[in-house]
Amino acid sequence: MNPSTISGPKAALHPFFDPFDPALHADPYARYTAVREAAALCEGPHGLVVVTRHADVSRALRDNRLGHGPLTAPNRIFSFLGMDPPHHGPLRRLAARFFSPAAVSALAPRITAAVDELLDQALRKRQVDLLADFAYPLSLRVVCGLFALPEQDQAWIREQTPPIARLLDPAYALTDHDVATAHSAAGGFVAYLHRKINERRRHPGPDALSALAAEADLGTEFTRRDLLPMCALLLLAGYETTANVIANGALALLRHPDQLATARDRVDGGRLDGGAMDELLRYDSSIQITFRTVQRPTVIAGTSLAPGTPTALLIGSANHDPRVFADPARLDLDRAHNPHLSFGAGIHYCLGAPLARLEASLALGRLLARTRAIELSSGPVRHKDTTATVRGVEALPVVLTPA
Ligand code: HEM
Repeated sequence: MNPSTISGPKAALHPFFDPFDPALHADPYARYTAVREAAALCEGPHGLVVVTRHADVSRALRDNRLGHGPLTAPNRIFSFLGMDPPHHGPLRRLAARFFSPAAVSALAPRITAAVDELLDQALRKRQVDLLADFAYPLSLRVVCGLFALPEQDQAWIREQTPPIARLLDPAYALTDHDVATAHSAAGGFVAYLHRKINERRRHPGPDALSALAAEADLGTEFTRRDLLPMCALLLLAGYETTANVIANGALALLRHPDQLATARDRVDGGRLDGGAMDELLRYDSSIQITFRTVQRPTVIAGTSLAPGTPTALLIGSANHDPRVFADPARLDLDRAHNPHLSFGAGIHYCLGAPLARLEASLALGRLLARTRAIELSSGPVRHKDTTATVRGVEALPVVLTPA
């Protein structure tokens, strides 16, 4: 750790921990436990300070002395996700209208219909990949629905997303090849959105793309320069993450038959209830890490951090911190105290959280209600090994028995 960026009584105790270690993809939680119990802060590669415990991750997420510097800023394509005040607030407020309680509950009938249509197909096939045949197409339909993007474009959008999502990892974690592939996918995606925006300018509809294009044309606080990254963020942020919540949640239930049985009792009106959903979100979060750079001197876990210090906030580790969660390695749908950080906290708290919750609770609720049994197909379940930030399986092959 660079001694000029960190000082304090515990500085000498920090072990080294690399959150980009490929060995973490299969199961990061045992490693998290080891480092979290060894130290609140660890030294990572490139001078990165890794924050391991819930109290410190939670405080750091809400600490506006941490922000986005060149080393940890998500790419410009992610709009206000990578911005600090004062630029962040106005853009976030503009997008917030699409995720208000009223806007989200208005989407419920459409989401239910999409869930049921995909489940009809899956139940006819019986042997399906819950990720490729259910979770991905569902979350893609929902975000594309928000922007009224045609169904025939969805397969192409789906292919562009994983390379672009790599830009959530800091630059130093990416190879030249990753960066080239990501920029080429991002370039194609931006060009596509540009065409769609121009179409909506000529023929506006009641969708988010038309609304944002009209707002940008007014050119007051929100300008044409902000429009494309905003659209890209709203489309990309909700797709991979929500699909992984559904698949990670289903996998957790399948690996814990007692909790699968409990979950079946916790479906009401076709939705998995909020407490059970929160436990699935905590247990295996689809976002494991978020990054910040110290902007003004601050203290984390008793250690002073100087401006310029890049930090990694380990959400996945915080969610399994025994200081906050009783028996954290246990999946417990009846958990009473569950302040998980899977949607972040502070000014960047996930804007899409209400929609993601609705979508995942309908997907899992309808899946449970419409099946008598769900079994994992034999063979190992492999996790994606491309990014440290996003956690999800490569495929989730199951056999479904209809109710
Ligand atoms: C419909 C689905 C979703 C949409 C539209 C969405 C959108 C967004 C947006 C716009 C932000 C940036 C907020 C800001 O900077 O003010 C954000 C942040 C975030 N989202 Fe989501 N999101 C969705 C689903 C999810 C899911 C399923 C997860 C994980 C379980 C997730 C985890 C996060 C986290 C951790 C942040 C904070 C990142 C940070 O502080 O660096 N999101 N989301």
